[in-house]
Amino acid sequence: MKLAIVGGGSTYTPELIDGFARLRDTLPVGELVLIDPAAERLELIAALARRIFAKQGHPATVTTTASVTDGARDADAVLLQLRVGGQAARNEDETWPLACGCIGQETTGAGGLAKALRTVPVVLGIAEEVRRVSPDAWIVDFTNPVGIVTRALLSAGHRAVGLCNVAIGFQRKFAAHLGVQPELIRLDHVGLNHLTWERGVTLLDAPGGTAGREVLPELLARFGERIAADLRLPPGLLRRLGVVPSYYLRYFYQHDIVLEELRAKGSRASEVAAIEAELLRMYADPELDTKPGLLGKRGGAFYSEAAVQLIAALLGTGNGAGSGTGVQVVNARNDGVLPFLPDDAVIEVPAEVGSAGVRPLPQRPVEPLYAGLIAHVTAYEQLALDAAIMGGRNRVHDALLAHPLVGQLDLAERLTDRLIAHNRAHLSWA
Ligand code: G6P
Ligand code: MN
Repeated sequence: MKLAIVGGGSTYTPELIDGFARLRDTLPVGELVLIDPAAERLELIAALARRIFAKQGHPATVTTTASVTDGARDADAVLLQLRVGGQAARNEDETWPLACGCIGQETTGAGGLAKALRTVPVVLGIAEEVRRVSPDAWIVDFTNPVGIVTRALLSAGHRAVGLCNVAIGFQRKFAAHLGVQPELIRLDHVGLNHLTWERGVTLLDAPGGTAGREVLPELLARFGERIAADLRLPPGLLRRLGVVPSYYLRYFYQHDIVLEELRAKGSRASEVAAIEAELLRMYADPELDTKPGLLGKRGGAFYSEAAVQLIAALLGTGNGAGSGTGVQVVNARNDGVLPFLPDDAVIEVPAEVGSAGVRPLPQRPVEPLYAGLIAHVTAYEQLALDAAIMGGRNRVHDALLAHPLVGQLDLAERLTDRLIAHNRAHLSWA
C-alpha cells in the first residue's frame, strides 16, 4: 500500500507516523511519500519518520519530494494536511478580526473565512493533480477549514473524505471516564465540522457491534463538571440540554467573553510557532526515534488513530476488532441526511465507511436550537466556497454577512477590507 502526505514536512507528521507504526495490523503501509515544498524541513521529518518505523520494526519505506505529481502517482490514498501561509497567516487570522470586535480563530468566523479563501484554490489544484496521476486514490482531508475544503473537493467530483479529531477526542475521553476501551463507545455526533453536538453516547456490548445502552445521561451526571470544564462551558448547560457541544461552540455561545480573553493574551499561532520551533529542534536529534510528548501540546490528539481507521476502512485492509471497517465520524455529503440542508452541503456525522465509500447514517430530527445554527453556518459555508472559487470583494462580503458571528453590514464591510488587505498575497483576484 502506498500513501502520500501533502504537507508531509509538517511538525504534525510524526503523529501520523506513530499511528502508522503502532497500528500496522490495521493499515499495512508499504510505501510512504512525504510531499512538501520546504525541502530542509521535509528531510528532517523524513529522517525521524524512518527512525520511528525502524524502532518498531516496521518495513515501510519513506521517500520525499516537492512534487505532487511524482509523490501521488499510484498512491492508494493521499492525505492533505497543509497550511497555506503557515503559522504567520494563521496569526493574522487570529488577530485582525479582534479590532472589529470579532473573535479571531483559524476556522471559525472571519479568520476561518480568510483561511478558506487562501486554501481552497490550492487544495483544488493539488486534487486535480492527484486525480490525473492516481485516479482511484482516496483523498483524506485534514486541511482546515475541513467542512468547506471537503465541500470544495466533493463539488469538484473528487473521491474525498474530510476528517477531524473532535469526535475521536470525545470518544477517548468518555471511554476514559467510564473505564472502558474506546472501541466500545459510539457517538451520536451531529452538525458541521467544528460545529457539532454529541446528542447520545452508546456503550456497545462488543466492539464493532450495534447493541448497547445509552450512557450520556450517566456521563453528564457523574462527570458533567469535568466534561464542561474541558470545554470551558457551564456544566448546567450541558446537563439541562443533555448534549455535549464541541469546544468550538464556545465561540458562538460565549463570543464576547472569548473575545475579551483573546484580546488579553497572545495568539494561539504564536504559541504554536514556539512549540514548532522546539519540536524541530528535537526532531533534529538523530537519537530521537519516538513521537515526543511535546507534540501532545498541539490540538491534533488522536488524529493519527482516526486517520488509520478511516484509510483502513476505505482501502478494505485490516481484520478483527482492530480493523477500520464500520462506523466512523467523517465529513461527507449531506444527501438528505439532514433534510433542512442542501444535498451538496458537507456534514459531520457517523458514517458507514467501506471500500465503496462513506455513507452517512440516518439522523433523528435535529432540535431547533442546533438546527438553526447548523443551517445558518451551512449557508455561510456555501457563500465562503463561492468566494474562494470565484473571488471578488462582494462575495467575501456576502459570506461574512451570512456568518452568524458577523451579520451586520457595517461590520461585514470593515472585516472585508481587513481580510483582503491581510491576505492579498494569497488571493489571485485581489
Ligand atoms: C483540533 C482541531 C483541528 C485544529 C487543531 C488546532 O485538533 O480539530 O482542526 O487544527 O485543533 O490545534 P493547534 O495545536 O494548531 O492549535
Ligand atoms: Mn478539526
